[in-house]
Amino acid sequence: MAKVLSGAGLRGQVAGKTALSTVGKSGSGLTYRGYDVKELAEHCDFEEVAYLILKGDLPTQAQLDSYKSELCSMRGLPVALKEVLERIPADAHPMDVLRTGCSMLGNLEGETSFDLQGKVTDRMLACFPSIICYWYRFSHDGVRVEVETDDDSIGAHFLHLLHGKKPNDLHERVMHVSLILYAEHEFNASTFTARVCASTLSDMHSCVTGAIGSLRGPLHGGANEAAMDMIQSFTSADHAEEQMMGKLARKEKIMGFGHAIYSECDPRNEIIKLWSEKLAEDVGDTVLYPVSVRCEEVMWREKKLFCNADFFHASAYNFMGIPTKLFTPIFVMSRLTGWAAHVMEQRADNRIIRPSAEYTGEEIRPVPAISER
Ligand code: COA
Repeated sequence: MAKVLSGAGLRGQVAGKTALSTVGKSGSGLTYRGYDVKELAEHCDFEEVAYLILKGDLPTQAQLDSYKSELCSMRGLPVALKEVLERIPADAHPMDVLRTGCSMLGNLEGETSFDLQGKVTDRMLACFPSIICYWYRFSHDGVRVEVETDDDSIGAHFLHLLHGKKPNDLHERVMHVSLILYAEHEFNASTFTARVCASTLSDMHSCVTGAIGSLRGPLHGGANEAAMDMIQSFTSADHAEEQMMGKLARKEKIMGFGHAIYSECDPRNEIIKLWSEKLAEDVGDTVLYPVSVRCEEVMWREKKLFCNADFFHASAYNFMGIPTKLFTPIFVMSRLTGWAAHVMEQRADNRIIRPSAEYTGEEIRPVPAISER
């Protein structure tokens, strides 16, 4: 008899091994390959952290320079992919666009051998911002953007394509921080999806396409968009408090709060909250940031629920002029590193993931003749 697991959602079950990250165990609460995310977000560029997660160690300056220029050279999109993107309607969700874009890339530039796993991952890292922005600018502004920019970073490349001009230093730094915070998070739902897919010895594009589908939901990556819709509906901090109390009384779930693993705080929140405050000062905001802070206070006071990484990302992205529906695709641009590293780790010591189920259906019974049903 297989052992029956009691917790719903596999909560608390160890489902495999990883050397990539720890969640809620040491440092500020999140570490990547032994480094505290707080320190990484303070001192590193996203590309350094991607290198760390994918290749095992922080790069030297020479390695970082060459990694960045390699990624820069891979930003272009094949004509056939552009044609597909041009056919996707403007009211499609960008996560669906990215899912299709990733899948199409797998058709055009498939991972024909696992020896190519590093290369296809770098290619996706380099061109996902191009995919999102090419579709967005074509479908919304009727513009075919030139996706091959010389921007120094993935975040700057994304903002450049989106806004048609290079970002300022503050915005580029916030993108580094945001992408670092979202890069890896142990066995979360989308990563686990990628690992299950990898365990069948499937290709990298299939693993990532499946992971994008998992991340899309509002209980996972989609929470930052839902949080934005909510805070935007409040006109002042007092209004936010009144509305939040109503939501809690109606037992509504408030997106951007709570976490499956962290119990007291999400270490990523304090970091992105600081940057959101800086951006609020920069744009002269007097509503969105105070509203967000009040929501945080009310949730802690009433329910002891804390902001997760998504909540202050909403205002931060908004202050940088990023449309709400592009929030979760940015998460993909970053988490792709974690997904791919987990796929590689799974492949290096693989056994097909195939748990058992506790059966709750009918006892065995004979099949009646069709006339007797
Ligand atoms: N708003 C209101 N209540 C919440 C809540 C939230 N965001 N998050 C948890 N709770 C409540 C639950 O309703 C539950 O109450 P109950 O015991 O009276 O039923 C209790 O807190 C325990 O939460 P639970 O849903 O068991 O936690 P979980 O581990 O299953 O789920 C999340 C974790 C993240 C899915 C959950 O907190 C959530 O849905 N948050 C909002 C979505 C979100 O921000 N997701 C991004 C995660 S990074």
